[in-house]
Amino acid sequence: MDRTAVAKMGAVASASVCVLVGGVVLAQYIFTMKKKTGRKTKIIEMMPEFQKKTVHIKDPGRVEEIICGLIKGGAAKLQIITDFDMTLSRFSYNGKRCPTCHNIIDNSKLITEECRKKLLQLKETYYAIEIDPTLTIEEKYPYMVEWYNKSHALLIEQGLQKDKFAEVVRESDVMLKEGYENFFDKLSEHNIPVFIFSAGIGDILEEVIHQAGVYHPNVKVVSNFMDFDENGILKGFKGELIHVYNKHDGALKNTEYFKQLKDNSNIILLGDSQGDLSMADGVANVEHILKIGYLNDKVDELLEKYMDSYDIVLVKDESLEVANSILQKIL
Ligand code: TMP
Ligand code: MG
Repeated sequence: MDRTAVAKMGAVASASVCVLVGGVVLAQYIFTMKKKTGRKTKIIEMMPEFQKKTVHIKDPGRVEEIICGLIKGGAAKLQIITDFDMTLSRFSYNGKRCPTCHNIIDNSKLITEECRKKLLQLKETYYAIEIDPTLTIEEKYPYMVEWYNKSHALLIEQGLQKDKFAEVVRESDVMLKEGYENFFDKLSEHNIPVFIFSAGIGDILEEVIHQAGVYHPNVKVVSNFMDFDENGILKGFKGELIHVYNKHDGALKNTEYFKQLKDNSNIILLGDSQGDLSMADGVANVEHILKIGYLNDKVDELLEKYMDSYDIVLVKDESLEVANSILQKIL
């Protein structure tokens, strides 16, 4: 063999060693990465509720970490902060839209046809703004105030009777999400505080959860409550207006409630609007917070935005399965 042939063989041999070593290193790397990611999301990977196509998570490792923190804290540290309309209540059933608290009245016999038409028109205009993916919260804010003021003024004009609400709710199409019994009963059994923070109508909301048999003593409702005269006729609304995009000062306005819960530093937040993301703002001493968001409408346009802000996004999900599966691990 001449010298060049020997040199060539040497080069081929060392190249092969390199490829071999490189291959081993790469295999080891992939193995370690797999092990790492496997370990990072072990809990949620093992939960069948998380494997459904409706569940979208941008950062599974982070969600896993939060859930671990919630499990570690247990019942003693937990509290729930949740929206109501389209979060605890259904967005649709069998392809038909379900009503919000306001819509329960809009669709009822308590108001005139003329008023119904006006409320429907308002809903068409302002709901489109509420969910418009091209507008910022700041841009939407004044329109929401306008919607609520106009809508509430129309309701006041109708002289609604409080003692008719139970019947109107019973006759409505409102439905709580699948698994609501398990959700409320388990939280009640373990005495976990549930703060329902709603821009709906408090009196209607309370009637819905009362009729569903889940208005347990661990549940507190903060919403727009009606003010009635001595004959039970609507004359206005109590307190400051809560609309879709001013939920950030809820904790500030309910300081007594949250002061009592200063050791409940682990929060599960449930919402369906971008405005619901700020429902726990101002809560002192937050150790872990898991934000679960229902995305019901304009899914293609909003999914990315929702995934950037909610830890878990549930697309067109009419159940409380994911929340229940997490509670199952904690409690
Ligand atoms: P939530 O905070 O419990 O989700 O309730 C607020 C919802 O109520 C929000 O999606 C807007 C909706 N709404 C109506 O459906 N009709 C109305 O007239 C008003 C003012 C609000
Ligand atoms: Mg809502």
